[in-house]
Amino acid sequence: MIGSGYVGLVTGACFADLGNNVSLVDIDERKIDMLQNGKMPIYEPGLAEMAQRNTLAGRMNFTTSYDCGLQGAEFVFICVGTPSGVDGEADLQYVRSAARSIAETMDHSMIIINKSTVPVGTGDWTTEIIERNQPQPIDFAVVSCPEFLREGSAIPDFMQPDRTVLGSTDPAAAETVAELYAHLDAPTVITDLRTAEMIKYASNAFLATRISFINEISIICERLGADVEEVARGMGFDKRIGPHFLQAGVGFGGSCFPKDVKALANMAQTHGMHPQLLNAVMEINAFQRRQITLKAREMLGGSLNGKTVAILGLAFKQNTDDTRESPSLTVARSLLNQGAVVKAYDPVAMENACAEVPALTPCENPYKAAEDAEALLVLTPWNEFKQLNMKRIRQLMRRPILIDGRNMYNPEELRALGFEYRGVGRGYNGEGLAAGGNDQAD
Ligand code: UDX
Repeated sequence: MIGSGYVGLVTGACFADLGNNVSLVDIDERKIDMLQNGKMPIYEPGLAEMAQRNTLAGRMNFTTSYDCGLQGAEFVFICVGTPSGVDGEADLQYVRSAARSIAETMDHSMIIINKSTVPVGTGDWTTEIIERNQPQPIDFAVVSCPEFLREGSAIPDFMQPDRTVLGSTDPAAAETVAELYAHLDAPTVITDLRTAEMIKYASNAFLATRISFINEISIICERLGADVEEVARGMGFDKRIGPHFLQAGVGFGGSCFPKDVKALANMAQTHGMHPQLLNAVMEINAFQRRQITLKAREMLGGSLNGKTVAILGLAFKQNTDDTRESPSLTVARSLLNQGAVVKAYDPVAMENACAEVPALTPCENPYKAAEDAEALLVLTPWNEFKQLNMKRIRQLMRRPILIDGRNMYNPEELRALGFEYRGVGRGYNGEGLAAGGNDQAD
């Protein structure tokens, strides 16, 4: 495995757990040092235990040396980051340098599998880079095998995938990689390199589109006095629609969706197209975050200056410490810019969040965060927020405004406890009508 980020660590640990010998190579000495000392640089349920188990069994090792890592390897997975460049394009410097290092080290035939999300056409130039940098010609094949792991459920996602996608100009190489995945018992799509690369972008962009779609519906629901939760439930029973990825809220974040939608739009633009739908998906997503701050400001009488606001949840979603592109941090920055004091709590993402937004006031639990706050914003749907003692929270707050950015709570119950409650797209009970009015009655 080249790269010890989410994809490399999870794929490596899972392949080792299935009985393979895995060497994980990273140029970051600090990370390799941590891993060699039994520490996991990221939080992912079950991963630290799995890595430890397989390291002790001698099936997994960590190194900064390509020479050691590639020794005798039949398969080499490229799992390096592809962050967003200045115009939203994928920055491919790490893929390029991994391909060069593999080529320079290669002393036997191998299959190189790209797991990083890369623009269509990357597999072709990866092959060229390797050919150009090999000290002597050695046979190899490049296969694209896009990764569909979700943070927080990455191990079960690896072990029970919905499908495996393999693309190559060398069908025999794709078949050999398929054997490596054979016991995972999922349909396998074997196709060409460019199609495999596009399947990844199209899948992520489609899921992001579903989220922006339901978020746009939520805005309409709020104005017209309907409840988006019930709307999504009612839609989800239709087998052609299905219930997944219809949760309205603060919008999508994380290391994949925002970056991949931007990169796909950038690919289209670079080739002279105008990706209207993808642009709208990003625009709606940005608006969802802004809406939370707008609601807080409106409920606090038009100004946030000098107000104390508490945020529960800083990770971009539950069960991860990842704060990359986290909607919570966008909201926090906006509140701080408008003069608010922002108290914050997250079960595992405190450290990452405070490193990104040092002006946050970290709190050791949800109750400490709520103390003296004039508004409480719940922005990540952690399980531990579901059963808070809301009566106690209400008593601790200076003013009981609760903005439920993930529609986790029952509005009636919270209003009965005395909260001034606003969810996302929950206009039921006249909440939205109060703002919009009932046109037909005039
Ligand atoms: C995603 C893809 O699901 C995965 O296949 C790919 O490999 C990487 O990108 P991940 O970013 O880990 O995975 O998270 P995911 O669970 O898909 O959620 C992405 C974002 O969308 C989160 O911010 C989440 O809170 C949000 N979301 C998800 C919604 O707002 N509503 C939903 O209905 C679902």
